[in-house]
This record gives sequence, structure tokens and C-alpha cells, in this order.
Amino acid sequence: MCGIVGYTGPREAYPIVLKGLKRLEYRGYDSTGVALLDNGHLNVYKKKGKVAELEETLIGKDLHSHIGIGHTRWATHGEPSDRNAHPHLSNSGELAMLHNGIIENYVPIKNDLLKKGYTFKSDTDTEVLLNFIEDIKKNNNCSLEEALRIALKRIVGAYCILLVEQNDPETIYAARKGSPLVIGIGKGEHFLASDASPIIEYTKEVVYVNDYEIAIVRPDELILKNLGNEKQTPFITKLDMELASIEKGGYDHFMLKEIHEQPDTIHDCLRGRLLPETGQIIMSGIDDNLEALVNAQRIVIVACGTSWHAGLIAEYMIEELCRIPVEVEYASEFRYRNPIINRGDVIVAISQSGETADTLVALEKAKEQGAFILGVVNVVGSSIARISHAGAYTHAGHEIGVASTKAFTGQLAVLSMMALKIAYAKATITEERYMQLVRDLHAIPEKVKEILKDTSNIKAIAEKYKDAKDFLFLGRGYNFPVALEGALKLKEISYIHAEGYPAAEMKHGPIALVDENLPVVFVATKDSYYEKIVSNVQEIKARKGKVIAVATEGDEVIPGMSNDVMFVPDTDEVIAPLLSTIPLQLLSYYVGISKGIDVDKPRNLAKSVTVE
Ligand code: M6R
Repeated sequence: MCGIVGYTGPREAYPIVLKGLKRLEYRGYDSTGVALLDNGHLNVYKKKGKVAELEETLIGKDLHSHIGIGHTRWATHGEPSDRNAHPHLSNSGELAMLHNGIIENYVPIKNDLLKKGYTFKSDTDTEVLLNFIEDIKKNNNCSLEEALRIALKRIVGAYCILLVEQNDPETIYAARKGSPLVIGIGKGEHFLASDASPIIEYTKEVVYVNDYEIAIVRPDELILKNLGNEKQTPFITKLDMELASIEKGGYDHFMLKEIHEQPDTIHDCLRGRLLPETGQIIMSGIDDNLEALVNAQRIVIVACGTSWHAGLIAEYMIEELCRIPVEVEYASEFRYRNPIINRGDVIVAISQSGETADTLVALEKAKEQGAFILGVVNVVGSSIARISHAGAYTHAGHEIGVASTKAFTGQLAVLSMMALKIAYAKATITEERYMQLVRDLHAIPEKVKEILKDTSNIKAIAEKYKDAKDFLFLGRGYNFPVALEGALKLKEISYIHAEGYPAAEMKHGPIALVDENLPVVFVATKDSYYEKIVSNVQEIKARKGKVIAVATEGDEVIPGMSNDVMFVPDTDEVIAPLLSTIPLQLLSYYVGISKGIDVDKPRNLAKSVTVE
């Protein structure tokens, strides 16, 4: 988490850094800070709160500088406060540094430094690393670059750091391990950031820095070295991204914009891959590895949060259509529990950001054990995309709202195509069913458009239930993970406690919660579980719970039993989550905004969780 930005070149650094931080706020927004170097003076300004709050306090100040670094924080070590905000200054005041990540062995290093007389103004691990670098520089009488290299070899943990020195008006030192860093290459200038969004308006040529690399960045020069001091050749990538994709485009919030983009993003994901006339599905990452997938003894899906929910839906699809056993693992558990990985197992990693630390480390471990890794990732060139042996991008475009929406439906679209491809190759479904599913999938973008045409009913439902203390979300079969996802969305952006459950499981416990005050959202579209879920709705009604249903257009039974209904068009149950999830995204959005919550940046969260 945390967003970092840097600039060195002929322009004024502050506006570039500030604008970049605003674009990266989705990565954390507990506190903000900048360090600007002018005429031998290292000026650090930092403050608890969002970027706009710092900006306000700096109005009227002389912020002239051609080199600057900035940080927007998601707190790990030390509460969100002015003093824990980055950048930090070293004890001598000659170095300023910011950091995204965690230094795990900072305690013994801090104790050593304390013994040597160093003092600390913050509770952060970052200030410890900074003074460690300063101490090495002093003791070894070496360059800052050399001191940085020595320090990085001794620390344990994850980092992306930017470091500047008072008497060097041109150079930003940067390094990464486990936290992302992109460097934009301009004409006589360089831009540094956690992702490409702060860079895109200045240049489309970027270098993704690799783990264990140090970048020495000056206006006219970019030197990359490994920790062994060997020069590395920067690999320049052309960004395939437009500025408009990272702006709100007339919507009040990124989340709403992203919900409404789904007809297009799902279409983009299917375009050129799913050919409804011939029934062909062309996905090079899958095609090239079809044998491994068809012969897989087991597929293990590793993910977190919403991506994990997409994984659960994929489990239902792959087991039903392809007859391959699937396990869905929380990456944070998988990485620590010494899992059994057999020859012939395929690991599928699902991640929007491609930077989630738990998922990344889980994959590294699985890879070490010889597993074949297939990435289903949204952010092109991200760490998970790069460590995967093969994969398929979700092509949902830049997702900025912290609550994942269009990336989720992109994941479902990719996973559906993947399951269909494998099923076809294995001949585990009939040609007729395969063709039907291809056609149904192709029709999804239009059906999503239909749901989004008029959202006033969902808005009214949100208004009606916004003061509820708890919500229950229930579903069966393919709609069970949708219920989990609905509950997660609501928690994230409305701060209302919500639980997702398999509808039939509620009588084993959660039904005790039901009374006339509890809204129960049933994801109850027409599928093979329909009759069963009708009975579950009755059970809630009998206990006076308030039933809000996601139902299929034309259905009269479920709506007749419900207090409120949100309709979706009919489709095959295998791909129904692509539709049934949309009203739940909107419900959460409208509850969140009616409670005055900043839905794009809900408290305590960050878009990309790059710490464990
Ligand atoms: O970037 P990833 O898909 O790996 O992120 C995983 C989770 O952190 C993410 O889905 C999180 O749960 C979202 N905030 C959900 O809306």
C-alpha cells in the first residue's frame, strides 16, 4: 500500500508530485507528505489526512524545486499522524526518504542506532531504515548509493523507497523489493511512481523496476543496478493507457463510473477472444498451455478479497464444466501453511492489482515447488502478471475506487472463457451446451446495460435500509459467492456489518439473528436451486426478516414474497453472477453515499494491499 511519486527535471516538481499523489490516493490516504529540494535546502511538508488537506496548508508557500518526492500513506508502523507521515528526515537532516512496505527486522536495527545516539521522531520502520543508511554512509565514508546498497542487503521485508540528498540537486535514488515502482522516461526528465497513473500525462515510455534493483535517476540519466552493483539494462515498455481512463468522466465517484463502465469492460474482455458465430475462444495464454490445464490433476486458485470470491465462482464453473477438482485458497493462509503441491497441479492466481503481497508471496512459494502459475490479472505488467508462467488479462481498465467492481466482472468473464475452453477440449460438456454458453456469455454486456439503464429503484431501496445495523446476504450455488461479495461490498463502503452465507446454512446458526429489523438480501435468480431458495425465503419471512431479493425478470414468486426486489435479466446459471452482482454493487454504493461516506476511499482500506 502507500503511493509514492518522484520527479527530477526542468519543470516545477511540486505540482507534478501533488497531482500524482491525488491519482495514487486509492493506495492509502492516512497522511501525505512531500520533500522538495531547492538551493541546498531540503524542505519537508507533511500532514495527517488526505492529499487535499496538505495542499491547503501549503497554499502561498514558496515550493519552488526541480526535484521532489511525495507519499500518500496507509499506516503500518505507527498511527496516522503528522509525525508518522512520510517523507522522513535523517538525524543529520541531509537525507529525506519515503517508503512503501514493511521492514521486518527494524527493531534490532533501531536498538543499535539508539545505542549510537540516534533519535527518532516517528514510530515508523522507515525512519529506522533511513538512519541506518545514514549511519552506514558515515561509518564507511562511502557514497549514498553504496550505503543504500549495503543497507538493503541487510534488511528483511518489502520496500519501494525514494531517497534524496540535500547536496545533490538532481538525483533520486529508488529501490524496490515486493512493492511496485515505475519510472517514466521523458525528454530530460524522469517521473517515478507506484503505478503509471501519475506518469501517463507526461510520457508513455516506462520502465518497471524489478525486485532487488536500485535506480539512480537524474534528469538525463537512468541507471539501474542490482544489489551486487552490476548495471542492468532498463527494459522500456510503452503504456497502453489513456488519461481519460483515470478521470471521473462526469460521475460523482470513480466507483459509480466503474460500475457503469461494465458493459464496455466486459465487452472489451470478450472482444476478439469469444467468437459467438464459430464458438471459438481464443486466449493465447490458455491456448499455449491447454495441455497442462486439460491434464491438471487439480487446480488451486489463490486470491484475496473480491478476487477470492471470483475464485469461488470459478470453482463451481470448473468442477461442473471441466470435471477437474478445484481448491480456492486465501493467499494469506496458503502462503504460511506449507500446502501440498503435486506435479500436475495448476495454480491460478486472481488479482486486480497484480501487487497484492499475500498473493504474490503465495505464488513465489508455489513456483519454488514447481507449480505452473496462471495469472488472471487486471494491471498489465504488474508483479503477479510478471511472475506467472502464463495468464489472461481481464482488460477492465484502471480501477480506482477501492471497492472492486468492474475488475470482478472482468475476472468472471475471463474465468468463464477459461472454463469453457478447458471443458470443450476435455469434451466434458456437450457441443450444444458449449455453444449455448458461448452465446449467453456474448450477450452479457447488453444485459448489464439493461440493469444499469434505470437504477432509481436500487437507490430507493438503499435509502430505505441505510440505517440498518446489520445485513445478511444469502445465495445458493453460483449465487453463494455473489452473496459473499455483496456483503463485502456493503461492509467496505457503508461500514454496516454484513455477512454472506449459503442460504441453506443459515438455519445452522445465523437465523438466530433474524428479526423484524434485519434486512436479508437473497440472491435468488432462476437457476437449479430456485425451488430451494424459495423455501429459504419463507424461513426468513416466517421470522419477520425484511427480504430484499435479486430476482430474474419475469419471476413472480420471489418478488411476491419479498419486501423489495432488484431485477436482472435471465441467463444461464453458470454465468449468472456477472449479472446478479451488479445490483449489489449499486446497493452498496447508494447506501454508502447516503451515509456520507467517501466511497472511493473508505476508512482503513487501500486499493492495493502490498503488505501482508
Ligand atoms: O488487487 P487484488 O485483486 O489482489 O486485491 C484483493 C483484495 O484486496 C481486494 O479484492 C479487496 O477485497 C477489495 N477492496 C474488494 O472490493
